[in-house]
Formats: sequence, structure tokens, C-alpha cells
Amino acid sequence: MNIDRDLIKTAFHTYISGFDASNLQVYNKIRHTWHVAENCQFIAQALSVDENLAFLIGVLHDIGRFEQIRVVHGYDDSKGIDHGDYGANLLLEQHLLREFIADTTEDELIRKAVKYHNKYELPDGLSQMERVYCQIIRDADKIDNFRGFHENDFFSFHERTPEQVQDSIISDEIVTCFVQHRTIPFSKIKTAADFFLIPYALYFGLVYDPSRGLALKQGNYEKMLEFVFEKPENREKFDLIKREIREHM
Ligand SMILES: [Fe+2]
Repeated sequence: MNIDRDLIKTAFHTYISGFDASNLQVYNKIRHTWHVAENCQFIAQALSVDENLAFLIGVLHDIGRFEQIRVVHGYDDSKGIDHGDYGANLLLEQHLLREFIADTTEDELIRKAVKYHNKYELPDGLSQMERVYCQIIRDADKIDNFRGFHENDFFSFHERTPEQVQDSIISDEIVTCFVQHRTIPFSKIKTAADFFLIPYALYFGLVYDPSRGLALKQGNYEKMLEFVFEKPENREKFDLIKREIREHM
């Protein structure tokens, strides 16, 4: 697929110029967008699929975040705006996608990749190609979450304090997710410590070997594992969790 990176850049900046980039949530999502687009390109290259299409999907995947931040002042998809659904609608039904690319060939694939990038699981019924690009964006996004988690984001953006995490206990059900090498569904979250561990389990959700390689190469995930829980019970559980993670690496 032919894409014009200058056009994509211009279209993206034109769209986000309607939002307040001095808001740290907006600023962080802008940074995240370009990191994810690069991750997409890397994974697509490694898989020998169209890196341009993957890059474009990377730029578009969180386009629904900005309106979500404006309306709900945060990233919580359960508060009225699901940013994947919103982004897909904005691009296709409201035709924002045409500002980024004139070629309509992959519209449906792009719609699905954006809509499903933030869902716990991909739906049945995707074509083989749709599934590949959906998995690429989901991997690329998870990998950059490790950077965001490590660099700044967690406590300032998720309405949890370090004290709440240290004062609460990691639930047994969460430990089970790690033992089973699964990502954590929101329905299982009971405590602040549970919530804190969501990004750790994202590693198990990475589909492709090059994605795992890229995550380790960037180094952020290893740094996340240096976190120290204060309560002896949490420490013991986190040691077990780290053993399971290392087994999977
Ligand atoms: Fe997202």
C-alpha cells in the first residue's frame, strides 16, 4: 500500500490541533501514537507484511483517545466512550480516514484494527489478514505501554497512588492469571495492587516472537520487574509472578 507519511503527519496534527497539547494526558497520547507506529512498522517488517499499512494503523489506533480525554478526563473506556469504537467511527462513518489516505482498499481492515485494538479478545470472523494487522497493533500498543508505565504514566493517570498499591494485597485470582500465563481481565481486579499488575501481564498477550524480542530490546519491561512490594505477602506473590514471567521469556 502506498502511503504518504507527510500527509499522515499533517492529518494527525491537524486533527489533534483541536485538543489541548499542554494537557499531559493529551501530550502522552501523542507521544504514544508515534512510538506505537514505529513498533508496528518493526513488527510488520519482521513478519514480512506491509509495513506502511501497519504504520498507518499505528498512527490511527488511538485517534479516539483525544475526544475521550476531553470528555471524561481520563482513559477509562467504561466511562461512556470506548476509544476503540469511537476512533473507528470517527475514521469511517465520519470519514476522517480520507484525510490520511485516499486509497479506500483497506478501509475495512483499518476499521477493525482500530475498533478491536483495545478489546480483551479479538472477535471471531476476522479474515486471516485482518487478524494479522489486529495482532500487530495490539502487540505494538502493549509494548509501548511498558515504556509508558516505566517512564511516567501509571500513578498519575490511573487514579491510584503508590500508597494504595502498597497498602493493598495482590488477589489470588491475579496470581492465577500469571501462573496460567494469561492477561488480566478487568472483571478480576479487586485491589489497587491487582490493578497495578495489569501491565505486567500484557507480556503474555504478545502474539508474535518479534514483538517479544522488541519488548525485551527496549528494556522497559525488565525495569518494571525491579518494582519492590513492601508487604511480605505481596513480595512472595510477586516473586512467584516474576518466576512465571521469566519462564515465558
Ligand atoms: Fe488505545
